[in-house]
Amino acid sequence: MSQAPLHSQFPPDFVWGVATSSFQIEGAAHVDGKGESIWDRFCKQPGAIADASNGDVACDHFNRLEEDLDLIASLGVNAYRFSVAWPRVQALGHGEFNRKGLDFYERLVDGLKARGIQAWATLNHWDLPQGLQDRGGWNDRDTVHRFVDYARHVQARIGDRIDGVTTHNEPWVVATLGNDKGIFAPGIKSKKIAAQVSHHLLLSHGLALQALRADGAHRANKCQLGIVLNLSSCVPATAMPADIAAANLADSRGRRWYADPLFKGAYPDDVMAELGADAPVVEAGDMAAIAQPMDYLGVNYYTRSVVSAGGEEWDAKGRGLPVSDMDWEIYPQGLTDLLVLLKHDYANLPPVYVTENGGAFKDDRVVDGRVQDDDRTAYLRDHIAAVASAMQQGVPMAGYMVWSLMDNFEWASGYLKRFGIVHVDYATQARTPKASADWYRGFLKDWRG
Ligand code: FCB
Repeated sequence: MSQAPLHSQFPPDFVWGVATSSFQIEGAAHVDGKGESIWDRFCKQPGAIADASNGDVACDHFNRLEEDLDLIASLGVNAYRFSVAWPRVQALGHGEFNRKGLDFYERLVDGLKARGIQAWATLNHWDLPQGLQDRGGWNDRDTVHRFVDYARHVQARIGDRIDGVTTHNEPWVVATLGNDKGIFAPGIKSKKIAAQVSHHLLLSHGLALQALRADGAHRANKCQLGIVLNLSSCVPATAMPADIAAANLADSRGRRWYADPLFKGAYPDDVMAELGADAPVVEAGDMAAIAQPMDYLGVNYYTRSVVSAGGEEWDAKGRGLPVSDMDWEIYPQGLTDLLVLLKHDYANLPPVYVTENGGAFKDDRVVDGRVQDDDRTAYLRDHIAAVASAMQQGVPMAGYMVWSLMDNFEWASGYLKRFGIVHVDYATQARTPKASADWYRGFLKDWRG
């Protein structure tokens, strides 16, 4: 590892950002013709959300846009990753588009541009219109075509001013947590449906890329098109052959199931065999569509996976290893290992952005106007160092974005887990940059030189 100061290990065109998503921060769940999303519906299920909360108000970002844009600019980042709420733009996910919905994102993008900040828009960060779920959601092949229409509509309006488009955020989460385990929206528990959902998400990604490129509106701004996967490095709990085999299978289920189709045009055989009759219906031409060349790959990394044949959870906390408030092991080396593995496995790997990385910590009380979140600062610094190390090993790293700009609605954990580098007081909506925000600002200042 280079001894040079961390900031000096990154090139001048490196992209540094903060990330959020629509449902987690916007609120304004029922204004200007916005339709219901599957997360609006899921939050009403008793027991679904740890604190029985919802996204009706969240961080009230919709009504505090200008203040939040100034906040983003004050950090000194050169990029902001946000998502577009599909039901805001098209209430039912089919039929009429809602002009007012895109007005908000136009103001957001123009506000970023006015502040010299790149705009990275995710089209699906999980808040599918309930109107489409009522027709079968991502399990229904028609949703693929509805997504392509929606993507084209967004590009036609703001494509000339955005710097990056992400089709889907973490398709594994939608498929596995939403449609197999049922602990995220839409709360379905079916391996078969989950497998079909994953295929339709990938297919809609590929077809959307084709359509967006054919329409061409993104060219004016050299907007980059890609997808974001949640990945972790998988390691066996012991050197026993059974654990090694289990770790390999876990890697196939989580990483290769998504990355192999994208970069090699085929699903991994081991997962296909495991799925058997639950394997997705794949039509002729689907795999070629999925394997569209991408301008970049987004990687969300939080922790590693330690896998054993018996399937026991890796109790990092019980073993005295460092963990975040999610009880996820803090393991920066896993990020380097993962990035190097991607480079090794995929010869056609495009530039890679870490599109999410960060930690939930309990050190979130505001004392004398300060939140001294030293654990978060250490987390960010050590993971940025892990990115630098991957870069030194030849991985084409292009950017890094902190999850998250501010504390927000953490899905099934509600507002109980805080990931922000800016503290949010939900009673007053006051924003207070934490010590980690000050650290990030200082780091970026040094990097700019
Ligand atoms: C990721 C999600 C993001 C956030 C972080 C903690 O899986 O993309 O919205 O919840 O986890």
